[in-house]
Amino acid sequence: MSQAVTMDKIVAFCKRRGFVYQSSEIYGGIRSSYDYGPLGIELKRNIKEEWWRRTVHMRDDVVGLDSAIIMHPKVWEASGHTATFNDMLVESRTSKRRYRADHLIEAATGMDVEGLSPEELTRIVREDERVKDPVDGGRDFSEVRPFNLMFETYMGPVKGPENLAYLRPETAQGIFVNFKNVMQTSRVKVPFGIAQQGKSFRNEITPGNFIFRTREFEQMEMEFFVEPGTDEEWHEFWIEERWNWYTSLGLDPENLRRFEHPKEKLSHYSKRTVDIEYNFPFRGWSELEGIANRTDYDLKQHAEHSGENLEYFDQASNQRYYPYVIEPAAGPDRIMLAFLVDAYTEEEVGGEQRTVLKLHPRLAPTKAAVFPLSKKEPVSTIARGLYDELKGDYRLFYDDSGSIGRRYRRQDEAGTPFCVTVDFDTVDDNQVTIRDRDTLEQERVPIQSVRERLQKLISV
Ligand code: GAP
Repeated sequence: MSQAVTMDKIVAFCKRRGFVYQSSEIYGGIRSSYDYGPLGIELKRNIKEEWWRRTVHMRDDVVGLDSAIIMHPKVWEASGHTATFNDMLVESRTSKRRYRADHLIEAATGMDVEGLSPEELTRIVREDERVKDPVDGGRDFSEVRPFNLMFETYMGPVKGPENLAYLRPETAQGIFVNFKNVMQTSRVKVPFGIAQQGKSFRNEITPGNFIFRTREFEQMEMEFFVEPGTDEEWHEFWIEERWNWYTSLGLDPENLRRFEHPKEKLSHYSKRTVDIEYNFPFRGWSELEGIANRTDYDLKQHAEHSGENLEYFDQASNQRYYPYVIEPAAGPDRIMLAFLVDAYTEEEVGGEQRTVLKLHPRLAPTKAAVFPLSKKEPVSTIARGLYDELKGDYRLFYDDSGSIGRRYRRQDEAGTPFCVTVDFDTVDDNQVTIRDRDTLEQERVPIQSVRERLQKLISV
């Protein structure tokens, strides 16, 4: 990562190169909603793909699931979201802006107010003169009140309370309510996991920092069911495993750390939670994912609220029990931001400045570009033939416009790890040049072995 990388730079870069656009931009945009462009969607898909590959496909104790976004409202009663998935909201009467009361107090006083009641927060906001409206310095605040973060909607044409439904605020609950289905239909045995990726929605009071915190976002979550008593060991395993996933994909370990949640601040369901954090240059250490020991809280809650027996029967020991759950819960949007920031580099090469995204080849949106040195026959036909042969394997790019130097720069910015050039010598010796984005080294390989060579270079 180059030192100079700022949020403005990343946002402008993402727009210019088609990674991320402001949503509904032609109408002036909508706050904290973003669209992923041609390169952005490839990068995000690759992140999700790598998570799925390592968490599901490479293991024989994890299976996948894709549950609905709109679920029975009782799910959220059982999980505790209806009652407790709240942020503390305060309105400034002078600027009419709304803030999270805890953020406002913490920023002004450094006090740690997590867990305080709305009444206690109201008292602090009104009595402590250091707490001011950041916009106009005003000190006329409304009462602090809990604000539920779930998006509400209605099922069907009647907009009455009987039809109230929610957009899921996490993918995890879809897994818990399908625990029995998966157990009965896929011959899994504890310890085993169920993984899911998909959209979640939270009506965040203060979204921001680009794609770091939005109201509509994606999650990649896995609930790993274990025998009580083995939970602490499995928790350690998953913390390690998830850390290794980031570093195996090239994220600089210097910019990563584990954050242990203090006991008194744990969520109501958690026995222990460790976050993996990334040191963003524009916001400091921030959570990429949380790895929680959720105990048997969720299964027991759903058993109680649904009346279904959700115990596990262990044939070996002839015992029934509620498994404990270890949950690595990550967000591909903010993970993408971390990978982008980490990879973004401005450097001088041969007296020229270049911007290069040093993304791991597995994550790179475009794996390779094919360049004919000339638009003329037979060089162009050979290059096109090579492109057509390889293009189904992964995302490739064909570029025959501008100087080779300019074509390289364009691909460097897009994070394309390899450029394959067909030149005049190719016509005689059937060899092409593969140029490495990071080392700038070039190797000459027979055209028939390009597919095999690239496959090897990409799957490191
Ligand atoms: N099931 C547990 C759970 O949802 P969480 O820490 O609230 O835990 C997990 O969310 C991950 O989802 C976070 O670490 C983050 O990566 C992502 N995430 C949560 N809220 C987000 C938001 N508003 N915008 C983008 N990503 C978000």
